[in-house]
Amino acid sequence: MDKAWETDQQLLSKYCNAQSVYPAAVIGDALFFTTKTISIKTPIDQTVVATASLASSDHVEEAVGLTNECFKQWRLMPAPKRGELVRVMALLCRQQKEALAAIITLEAGKITQEALGEVQEMIDVFDFAVGLSRQLHGLTITTERPEHRMMEQWHPLGVVGIITAFNFPMAVWAWNAALALVCGNTLVWKPSERTPLCALACHQILQQALSELGWEGQFPALSSVVLGESNIGASLASNPRVPLVSATGSIPMGKHVAQTVASRLGRCLLELGGNNAVIVTEHADQSMAIKGCVFSAVGTTGQRCTSLRRLFVHTDIYDNFKASLVNAYQTIRIGDPRDEGVLCGPLLNEEAYNNVLAALKQAEASGGVIACGGERVTENVPEGGVYITPAIVEIEHDAPIVFQETFGPLLYLIRYSDFNAALEWHNEVPQGLSSAIFTENMKEAEKFLSVVGSDCGIANVNIGTSGAEIGGAFGGEKETGGGRESGSDAWKNYMRRATNTINYGDSIPLAQGIKFE
Ligand code: UN1
Repeated sequence: MDKAWETDQQLLSKYCNAQSVYPAAVIGDALFFTTKTISIKTPIDQTVVATASLASSDHVEEAVGLTNECFKQWRLMPAPKRGELVRVMALLCRQQKEALAAIITLEAGKITQEALGEVQEMIDVFDFAVGLSRQLHGLTITTERPEHRMMEQWHPLGVVGIITAFNFPMAVWAWNAALALVCGNTLVWKPSERTPLCALACHQILQQALSELGWEGQFPALSSVVLGESNIGASLASNPRVPLVSATGSIPMGKHVAQTVASRLGRCLLELGGNNAVIVTEHADQSMAIKGCVFSAVGTTGQRCTSLRRLFVHTDIYDNFKASLVNAYQTIRIGDPRDEGVLCGPLLNEEAYNNVLAALKQAEASGGVIACGGERVTENVPEGGVYITPAIVEIEHDAPIVFQETFGPLLYLIRYSDFNAALEWHNEVPQGLSSAIFTENMKEAEKFLSVVGSDCGIANVNIGTSGAEIGGAFGGEKETGGGRESGSDAWKNYMRRATNTINYGDSIPLAQGIKFE
């Protein structure tokens, strides 16, 4: 392929065997190959860019065993020292930002700007975790007993299993890995089988950081990657030596993981589907709203879990707003994600396009009208890739298809006249990830954020639904799974809390005034 891809090969060169096959599993620096292989196709033009081998559940067992051994050493390292590793990882990512972004573009089809943004998100969360490594704190609590002290401590869990999706092939791992590592855990990562090179590149950054610190011998299995299909995720979920499984992906996948992990009383952290909405009221700055909505609906070709799917517009401004939105859609450049000025790259594959087509059909069957888009683009785009014009469908709020998430640039435009009804419609879907309101009216904005407002994990004012910063806790309610990752106090998910009461007196007073003599 082109020049950018040659650089990527350098970053990944140590992972390729003589037959140009990438490993099924990497545990620390040890590579494991199998004979069962998978072809990795780039969404850019659907050509095969790599061949990877697929792991079996035995590899999961091996990775969990070795990373669990390594945990026994890693947990002894003071947390700020562990932060040192993540600090070096952030430096290495800064140095190799373009090369890493190029791998994301190659495997996920993300436009260069957004791929660079994803690497930046990874750097940001590493920086955050470095600070956090000096801030992992518990409370000291007053006690009812004299000469006693009560406090909490936070201890690491052990091996953290990480399952990630194709659309954020590096950043979501980084959210989990950065926090898990500074908290003193070790990692087993099952990336999407569509993005193994992204996973190997991230793993390489971690290994490189270990070696720069001279720590690779001391921690030979801090992190591992196990590549495979759903059976690998299932093996991780069922493994009793994995106290926490953090999974990002579809709702059915999340339900499966949750049930499996619950059956052994393990913990899981779920970041599943969204069905995100914006309300644009008659008091909105419309040009700001258009910009915010277009980025959220069309960015990443509508394939973010935070992508805007439902847009409620007040009837007084509806026609005007719709015209401006359709206008804006028509100016969006669709094409090779590596070309400057392109805003809408390819869909993942034909299946993704078929899902968009099926959703459009269903929308029309329930009275929806396509305002624009949904057509295949074949001119001025790389041959073989799946490029489409982003679609807007005018539809009723309760059409069945509106309740489903379809990954792609597909936006449902819904007219409303009563603000309270719009709030109800906003919350009537099973998912609860991200949401926003565009208004200059303080009462509307505050009501949207209040207890009777958005029921989502993320609720914004005059900002779109996507593109959250890492400093806040990320995740959502209802079928989105309830997990919170990344910023705020999400680190607590990666640790266990111990409540300690210490008696420094000479007697044994009992709590609750109990006499036992
Ligand atoms: C995802 O799509 O799984 O808020 C994550 C956002 C990004 C993360 C998206 N920071 O859109």
